[in-house]
Amino acid sequence: MHIDRILPAFLLAGFAFVANAEVVKSPDGKVAVDFDVKNGVPTYSMTFDGKTVIKPSALGLELVDAPNLIDGFRLKDTKTSEFDETWQPVWGETRDIRNHYNELLACLEQPETGRLMNIRFRVYDDGMGFRYEFPLQDNLTYFVVKEEHSQFAMDGDHTAWWIAGDYDTQEYDYTESKLSEIRYKMAEAITSNASQTQFSPTGVQTSLQMKTDNGLYINIHEAALVDYSCMHLNLDDKNMVFESWLTPDAQGNKGHLQAPTHSPWRTVMVSDDARDMLSSNLILNLNDPCAYEDTSWIKPVKYVGVWWEMIGGGKQWSYTYDLPSVKLETLDYSKTKPHGQHPANNENVKKYIDFAAEHGFDQVLVEGWNIGWEDWFGKSKDYVFDFQTPYPDFDIKMLNDYAHSKGVKLMMHHETSGSIRNYERHMEAAYNLMNKYGYNSVKSGYVGNMIPRGEHHYGQWLNNHYLYAVKEAAKHKIMVNAHEAVRPTGLCRTYPNLIGNESARGTEYESFAGNKPSHTTVLPFTRLQGGPMDYTPGIFEMDMKKVNPNSQGHVNSTLARQLALYVTMYSPLQMAADVPEVYNRFMDAFQFIKDVPVDWDDSHYLEAEPGQYIVAARKAKGGDDWYIGCTSGENGHVSDLSLDFLDPGKKYEATIYADAPDAHYLTNPQAYKISKKKVTSKTRLKLKAAPGGGFAISIKPLD
Ligand code: NOJ
Ligand code: CA
Repeated sequence: MHIDRILPAFLLAGFAFVANAEVVKSPDGKVAVDFDVKNGVPTYSMTFDGKTVIKPSALGLELVDAPNLIDGFRLKDTKTSEFDETWQPVWGETRDIRNHYNELLACLEQPETGRLMNIRFRVYDDGMGFRYEFPLQDNLTYFVVKEEHSQFAMDGDHTAWWIAGDYDTQEYDYTESKLSEIRYKMAEAITSNASQTQFSPTGVQTSLQMKTDNGLYINIHEAALVDYSCMHLNLDDKNMVFESWLTPDAQGNKGHLQAPTHSPWRTVMVSDDARDMLSSNLILNLNDPCAYEDTSWIKPVKYVGVWWEMIGGGKQWSYTYDLPSVKLETLDYSKTKPHGQHPANNENVKKYIDFAAEHGFDQVLVEGWNIGWEDWFGKSKDYVFDFQTPYPDFDIKMLNDYAHSKGVKLMMHHETSGSIRNYERHMEAAYNLMNKYGYNSVKSGYVGNMIPRGEHHYGQWLNNHYLYAVKEAAKHKIMVNAHEAVRPTGLCRTYPNLIGNESARGTEYESFAGNKPSHTTVLPFTRLQGGPMDYTPGIFEMDMKKVNPNSQGHVNSTLARQLALYVTMYSPLQMAADVPEVYNRFMDAFQFIKDVPVDWDDSHYLEAEPGQYIVAARKAKGGDDWYIGCTSGENGHVSDLSLDFLDPGKKYEATIYADAPDAHYLTNPQAYKISKKKVTSKTRLKLKAAPGGGFAISIKPLD
């Protein structure tokens, strides 16, 4: 164990329990965290291989109507321990995950107020996490957080991949810039999609990926965000010090806590190899083990859906525009005039079910199946949807029976419109309805400003709601894929029926405006650190004008790269988002989407650089097939891959779906070439990805 005391024990009469500064090292000794109380202020710093990751940084919290928990502390006691265990996720990138760390618990006392606060550090080979703990005590029970002041002092003007701090949206394109440039680039960074609650010209969201001039990759995020508000980072760009900035509630407070309790983990990942950022399990490891005894009902899902027709194609979720001026609750839809542009109808849904059955998909998502969509846009009241009443052209029993007869399930959709009490009021009945008709997964959504008004998407109250929805779903054996909910922080380890989240800019924006070509080379370093994303890849028609003459969008990716995303964007829930008519034109390329698994025994990141390229190889769960995906940014990428992860005794056939030599995400995105090649563990593959391009490879043993 690499835990050394840097000073000999300080044992004086009357100070028998005063401990000294401590250094905790990672199991391999490369990461070191130094903790001390300096002039009464808890302070830490961090190094990797002797290089500075975090300069001395202060820790503490400011409270409402109570003395602060910032200074006046003394170190009462420290405890160190080592932990090493290997666990198996219900679904994941690898079959086994090792959780190996050295821990320091620093027990602090504020003599003037008689209050206690502990700070727990866990130091891993690939980074560290710390959290505040408030033990049961006499002088601190109920308290309100005004602000958390956890500092992360950077050792230079690093390059960062960031999105604007915002209490209500994460759906931004990433900006790559120096830390010192954030304030100058903020206006440009938010024009695409700012909500009203972007808070500071130097405020950014986590997970924040950085790179230092001396080649370190540093990532700051949080783990196990439970009963607390979500953390942003505000940068003091004179001194390059980040400080935590929590999401407020409607009163401006940032958390209502009751001891005994603790904060989420604040995480700092570090390596000199970008690939280690992607293979790290630090965030999952800092979450609690699975809370459910029986997980047999939790199954990865590959799905198609009645979706892109509305998102990209301009069709409607609603059954009618023709909304009479009567209360929605009493509206008789059979007397309204349908506009005939409602894809969630019996005939169309059956077409998707047939397509799913023919091509081996598990589920069909249907959005716009339920009443309420006409009423949403006014959103003048708490009541919008009831999540139970289908439109007249959606026969819920017939369609579920039809799907089940073909071995397919329908996926439920609950757009809450951010009306939280309305959703909670109907939740039990809505989940019961799902059980009745045989649904086992729901895509939920939280579009728009929150009701109650003034609450924010990432505040404590909402974070409690998202987890409540997941835990209640588990009682019904239902898996949840929540869009617009708070960014994930590894809670899927504890609650693996949280099978996906959106919580970032997804493929839908390709149809609205387009995403930066580099977007999918950044997301795995940032958004995906906390858990899988329902990115909805698989768009084969990039020219959105061909889909909808009114569209302003363009899918900034080649077709080959759309295939690669099923490998590079790890998720146990993957959609093939385009429409059957388009897939029918490209059946040879579609074969990759049919083949690619959504659950894995092993994963290797072969090449990676944020903003430039990611190449991942994964081994199918319980099988011998391997799949490789490459996504690249504006400059394209040349790969030189060793296949040394293959079984040395075996011969394989690789099917390579590559960009054609003249492919380009803007001018020639559908140019691809499919070839076959015999390979072994000794093969090297040289492949070229076009600008905004990529490649996908399936590798199957020849037996
Ligand atoms: C936004 C979600 O991201 C999208 O997938 C969904 O179709 C719409 N909201 C409507 O709920
Ligand atoms: Ca969204």
